[in-house]
Amino acid sequence: MLGAETVTNDKSVQSVRGMNDLLPGQVESWQRVEGALREVSRRYGYREIRTPVVERTELFLRSIGEQTDIVEKEMYTFTDNNGESLTLRPEATASCVRAGNEHGLLYNQTQRLWYVGPMFRHERPQKGRYRQFHQFGVEALGWAGPDIEAEIITLGERLWRSLGIQGLSLQINTLGSVTGRGKYRDALRAYLSRHVDALDSDSQRRLERNPLRILDSKDSGTQAVLVEAPSLSDFLEEAEQEEFDRLQQLLTAVDIRFSINPRLVRGLDYYTGFVFEWTTDQLGAQSAICAGGRYDGLSEQLGGHPVPAAGFACGLERLIELLTLQDEETPIQSPGVYLAAFGEVAELDAAQCAERLRDSSIDVQMNCGQGNIKKQLRRADNSGAAIALIVDKETAGTSMVKVKPLRGQGDQTMVSTEELLATVQTYLQKPD
Ligand code: HAM
Repeated sequence: MLGAETVTNDKSVQSVRGMNDLLPGQVESWQRVEGALREVSRRYGYREIRTPVVERTELFLRSIGEQTDIVEKEMYTFTDNNGESLTLRPEATASCVRAGNEHGLLYNQTQRLWYVGPMFRHERPQKGRYRQFHQFGVEALGWAGPDIEAEIITLGERLWRSLGIQGLSLQINTLGSVTGRGKYRDALRAYLSRHVDALDSDSQRRLERNPLRILDSKDSGTQAVLVEAPSLSDFLEEAEQEEFDRLQQLLTAVDIRFSINPRLVRGLDYYTGFVFEWTTDQLGAQSAICAGGRYDGLSEQLGGHPVPAAGFACGLERLIELLTLQDEETPIQSPGVYLAAFGEVAELDAAQCAERLRDSSIDVQMNCGQGNIKKQLRRADNSGAAIALIVDKETAGTSMVKVKPLRGQGDQTMVSTEELLATVQTYLQKPD
């Protein structure tokens, strides 16, 4: 039941911190990006999947890892009326694998999937970091080799190109096999244990259970200790090194520039093998635009059979922020035609006229709420329409309509309803 306080509080209700409204005028850039990512995904043969925003908490504990920031501090977890622990998804890779297994999509089949949608992490909000944010992701399920890894990177790069985004840098690394990584983890732990006092407190806490995560600590003291630390590349088996080399050849063949960052580890535990990140230096601290890698063990971790897999997710808020920094503005949605009507008979004629034009795919905004000519023409101008059509006492009941260009395309004229569509089309095609 609602408390009395909730009912009587007269402060206006605000949105949740870190969760943003996207208003008309902003949504246009989103639609442009969504159009581009749909098209690029289709170009590579990826098909859309939509999974629920709420999942069982267990899904994320078993995939992202219990020792990660996301699971330790950032999940929106609640108990529902049945006493079940549920979580607003902080990412969608685990959901894709769960759905693939649950619906038998991964038995003797491969799947190229993509998704877009809101994710939730209870992080400290700042520019580029939100509590509800949106990801576009692709997940390629069922392929083991570097060819698919090169493909997903190429797909991402084509998306940047199709949006005109420049200046992103690609870093890649390989985490090796589970065995090799186990040996490396022991060596790293042994080394870091000798310098434990110089590590930041988060790193000290991670030393026992997850020392690899210490590699991407931002603390300068920890960074200094890491300079002399053993390198993951020394623990790669020959076949792993060969695969990583092959990935590099494939990227070079399609002119994708990259650098190898042996310290690149990811904030989620499910990665095995290659990992990557696209970053920008134009957005301050939140520089990662897109990140991903291989996660061959995830299907089994979630109770399915082994499925090799690789994918990435891209933060749309950051991508759109970059787009607005780099690009001329995306046009704001406006109608082609504003229909003004004066008087009761005129309103009936105008309503019919508007429907006829819409039948012919013309965007028409009707004047609602009446008003004198000055007011209606001001609204017409504010709507962004190219022309106003006016039905007034003079033309109502005749088969004539007045056409008033609003963007400097000549004087007002009068046309018959038969000629109207052709006249409107001519105006809408003319440049300003
Ligand atoms: P992630 O690195 O956690 O990976 O997130 C991917 C991207 O989502 C980040 O690079 C960033 O652009 C964006 N992002 C993350 N957190 C926030 C936030 N709080 N506010 C705004 N943007 C954010 C994953 O989520 C993996 N599922 C990626 C993946 C897919 N790996 C394999 N397949």
